[in-house]
Amino acid sequence: MTTLRNRQWIYTKRPEEIVDNSHYTMKEGTISMSYLKPGEVLIKSEFFSIDPYMRIQQSNKNTWESPHPLNIVQGGAVVGQIIAINDSNTSLKIGDWVLSYTGWQEYAIAEVNSLRKLDPNQTSVTTALGVLGMPARIAYFGLIEAGKPKTGETIVVSGASGAVGQIVVQIAKLKGCKVVGIAGSDKKTKYLQDELGVDAIINYKKHPSAIEMKNELSRICPEGIDIYYDNVGGFITDAIFELININARIIICGQISQYSRGLDNPELGPRFLHKLLYKRATIQGVLARDYNHKMDQMLKEMTPWVISKSLKYKETIIEGFENLPSALNMLFHGKNMGKLIVKV
Ligand SMILES: NC(=O)c1ccc[n+]([C@@H]2O[C@H](COP(=O)([O-])OP(=O)(O)OC[C@H]3O[C@@H](n4cnc5c(N)ncnc54)[C@H](OP(=O)(O)O)[C@@H]3O)[C@@H](O)[C@H]2O)c1
Repeated sequence: MTTLRNRQWIYTKRPEEIVDNSHYTMKEGTISMSYLKPGEVLIKSEFFSIDPYMRIQQSNKNTWESPHPLNIVQGGAVVGQIIAINDSNTSLKIGDWVLSYTGWQEYAIAEVNSLRKLDPNQTSVTTALGVLGMPARIAYFGLIEAGKPKTGETIVVSGASGAVGQIVVQIAKLKGCKVVGIAGSDKKTKYLQDELGVDAIINYKKHPSAIEMKNELSRICPEGIDIYYDNVGGFITDAIFELININARIIICGQISQYSRGLDNPELGPRFLHKLLYKRATIQGVLARDYNHKMDQMLKEMTPWVISKSLKYKETIIEGFENLPSALNMLFHGKNMGKLIVKV
């Protein structure tokens, strides 16, 4: 096999605020099938997942794991096609689509047993990064296991039109809840209401403080809030505490409003934890990796929903390997709707 040119995005500088191109350097090298060890495949990357956790890992302090090291390829999930195999025992074939965690590089070597094989005849292969991937796993198990939704309950979802949020709102509807979706533009709230069928929407930019948000939530939810699925944190979350019902469940999935501030210097807010006491409410952080072992259970339930379109989804697909760092920056300006993906 000929040697291939391989471009890689190397993470070279920790951001102090919002991540952008200046924190990355493009490196050009080569890769060849002759590099493969037994049990490995060579993958041509086609679709890259862009995720908020990438910014969390750029903190220089430990999170759920140690920080992303500098001067290596930016890690991340990738959908690609196998172009060479050095394993006579595998059922994988050249041309197969796979999900790998091989990061921002045009070609990558991966161990056969680290891959998830995808079926392009069943759903678009890009779904493995979003509606049938990691965001779906935390949407599904975070809501079902931590949120324990019951018919007739009221749930508020922040970041509702994003990769995770768009799934949470629809599963909550399927479970018979009244669903309130919060997002940052009229285009996004229209999508939530017209296409995903949420019961009420709030454009948080029109209610830009905890007091204004609380007033709007009280108007929309006079019955109070039973579940809050939090993707963003900040003043939106502060507004929720005063409105929770007895035995409310607050699920902390993400706090994206805080990621670019320096995660160890969070914005200070009011101290509302006494409201949890009065309402015997719970607050629980949830992490997608804790449900890895249940991925098949989620796929079994959700794949038919996606195929039948009873679960809808949007993807924002940016073209061009060279645009990976700027695509990551887009997340923090709300420029994506649904799952953000970069296509080579
Ligand atoms: N716990 C886990 O295992 C896990 C797994 C996946 C994701 N997450 C978390 O879940 C959240 C959503 O992730 P995602 O992949 O679905 O991303 P996403 O929602 O598709 O994209 C990020 C969105 O966040 C919103 N946003 C950005 N800055 C904001 C701010 N200051 N205040 C309010 N909203 C802001 C933007 O939408 P607007 O236009 O609406 O502002 C943006 O489009 C993130 O916090 C992420 O870290 C957690």
